[in-house]
Amino acid sequence: MELRLDGKRAIVTGGSRGIGKGIAKAFAQAGAQVVIVSRKPETLQEAAAEIGHDCHWIAANVGDYESAASTVEAAVERMGGLDILVNNAAANPYAGPMIDVDLPRWEKTIQVNVTAPLMWTQLAWRRTMNQHGGSVINIGSVGALKTSRILGVYGMTKAALVYQTEQLAAELAPTVRVNTILPGLIKTDFARVLWEGERGDEVAKLYPMKRLGEPDDIATAAVYLASDAASWITGQRLVVDGGGTINFAEG
Ligand SMILES: NC(=O)c1ccc[n+]([C@@H]2O[C@H](COP(=O)([O-])OP(=O)(O)OC[C@H]3O[C@@H](n4cnc5c(N)ncnc54)[C@H](OP(=O)(O)O)[C@@H]3O)[C@@H](O)[C@H]2O)c1
Repeated sequence: MELRLDGKRAIVTGGSRGIGKGIAKAFAQAGAQVVIVSRKPETLQEAAAEIGHDCHWIAANVGDYESAASTVEAAVERMGGLDILVNNAAANPYAGPMIDVDLPRWEKTIQVNVTAPLMWTQLAWRRTMNQHGGSVINIGSVGALKTSRILGVYGMTKAALVYQTEQLAAELAPTVRVNTILPGLIKTDFARVLWEGERGDEVAKLYPMKRLGEPDDIATAAVYLASDAASWITGQRLVVDGGGTINFAEG
C-alpha cells in the first residue's frame, strides 16, 4: 500500500534542513501542500526550491508568539486550511550536567522544545483543526527515555514533549490526533559532533541495524502518522532508532 497525503495541507517547523526538510519533501511527494518554517530566509528559499511541488516558506522563530500566530494565519490563508502540523524545530544550546546549567539556556531550551509545540498546536487548533480535524506530529528524541551525562536538559524537554503529546491527544480526541516520533541519532547538522568521522562508525555499531539514521527514516514514519492509515493512532510515541533502545545491555 502506498501512503498518500493528497489534498492535505501541512506546516513543518524547522523545515529548511535535516529531518524537517526530509519530512517536508516526503509530504510533498505524497501529494500534500507544504509550508516550511525556520528563521533564515536564504536557507528556506533553497529548501523550498529543492522540495518543489509549489512548497511555500515563511521565516519565523517558533518560540515567538506573534510570529507563530501570523505564520499559522498566512499558511492557512495560502493553503485554504491546515490538516497536518509537524513541530520539529528544537534547540540544544547547553551541553553539560543539568545541575550546572545557567537559567537563560535552561529557559531557551524549554521555550523552543516545549512551549513552542504547545503554542503552535493551540494556534492550529483554534484557527481550524477544532472544526476540521487534523494530525499533529511532535518530533521528540530517544533522549527523552534515559538520563545523559551532558544532554540532560535537552532530554528533559523531550520527555516533557512526550507528556504534552499524550495530554493533548486525550484532550483533542476524536477531532485531532497527536503523536510523537522519537528519533535515534540522525545524520544532520544538529547532531554532527556525535556522528562525524570515526565516531559515527563506532556509534553505528551500537545500533542493531548497524547504521545511523537518515532524515528519510523519520520522514516515512511522519508520512504514516499524518496519513489516514494511522486514523486510530493517537497519543503514541514512535521510536525510530535502528533498534538502539532495545540493544543488549552488554552492547
Ligand atoms: N539529528 C538527530 O540526531 C536527532 C535525534 C533525535 C531528535 N532530533 C530532533 O529532530 C528535530 C530536528 O532536528 P535536526 O537534526 O533535523 O536539526 P537541524 O538539521 O539542525 O535542523 C533544525 C531546523 O530547525 C530550524 N530551527 C532551529 N531553531 C529554530 C527556531 N527557534 N525557530 C524556527 N526554526 C528553528 C533550523 O533552521 P534555522 O536555524 O534557519 O532556524 C532548521 O531548519 C529536533 O526536534 C531534534 O531535537 C534530532
